[in-house]
Amino acid sequence: MEFFDSHAHYDDEKFNSDRDEVISSLKDEGITRLVSVGYNIESSKYAQKLSDKYGFIYNSCGISPNDIPQNKEELWKDLQEIYEIAKQKHKKLVAIGEIGLDYYGNKENMDLQKEAFIEQIKLANNLNLPIIIHTREAVSDTLDILKNKQKALNTGIFHCCPLNRELVKEALKLGYYISFAGPVTFKNSKNADEIIQMVPLDKILIETDSPYLSPEPNRGKRNDSRNVKYIAQKVADVKSVPIDEIAKITYENANRIFKL
Ligand code: NI
Repeated sequence: MEFFDSHAHYDDEKFNSDRDEVISSLKDEGITRLVSVGYNIESSKYAQKLSDKYGFIYNSCGISPNDIPQNKEELWKDLQEIYEIAKQKHKKLVAIGEIGLDYYGNKENMDLQKEAFIEQIKLANNLNLPIIIHTREAVSDTLDILKNKQKALNTGIFHCCPLNRELVKEALKLGYYISFAGPVTFKNSKNADEIIQMVPLDKILIETDSPYLSPEPNRGKRNDSRNVKYIAQKVADVKSVPIDEIAKITYENANRIFKL
């Protein structure tokens, strides 16, 4: 069985002591492709470095809503840097992200968050790339931007998708992929089954969001891509489809959206 972990952060300092060891062990566990996702300038550069070093790692770049600078001037400086990184058209750059809105993290800079989101969708459109969306407690503004303010021409992925019926319904209508992460395995996640049922097989991706959000049975520990099988198993159980079939379908889906 082979797995594609659509979203991980191997730049994270939690991997500082054993990064190469962990990454080198992944292939033996069947993780044969993954995207190391950027969330600010440094992590975007680091993700690019990792994809240079490892054949099976791809990268994305972007400024996440939790990494927006204090003011407009700083934001535009950062956006300019992201443009520079992206416009090198690195051969393994597969998406712009993670980008989006997070009103759980910060409600005071909503306007800057929206501006950064819109500008980075434009960048993705210029480069003919999909986007990776982080959205938390911002369903209506996220959908408003995607529908009415700045369409993403290559659509994209709702990463660690909030288990919100309205969001998933609208995201699917717009042609987006839904990426499931650790929380769908948590015992207290009430509607994970219902949401997984809503998403057709050809729109499902699986991810770890390593080093965060370890799925059951490893909840609370540092996460790495080896745990992606537990997400696949959860989807397999809900859909009543064998796990090797889920691995194959989600692999093909990831290849399709990332144009690999
Ligand atoms: Ni992430």
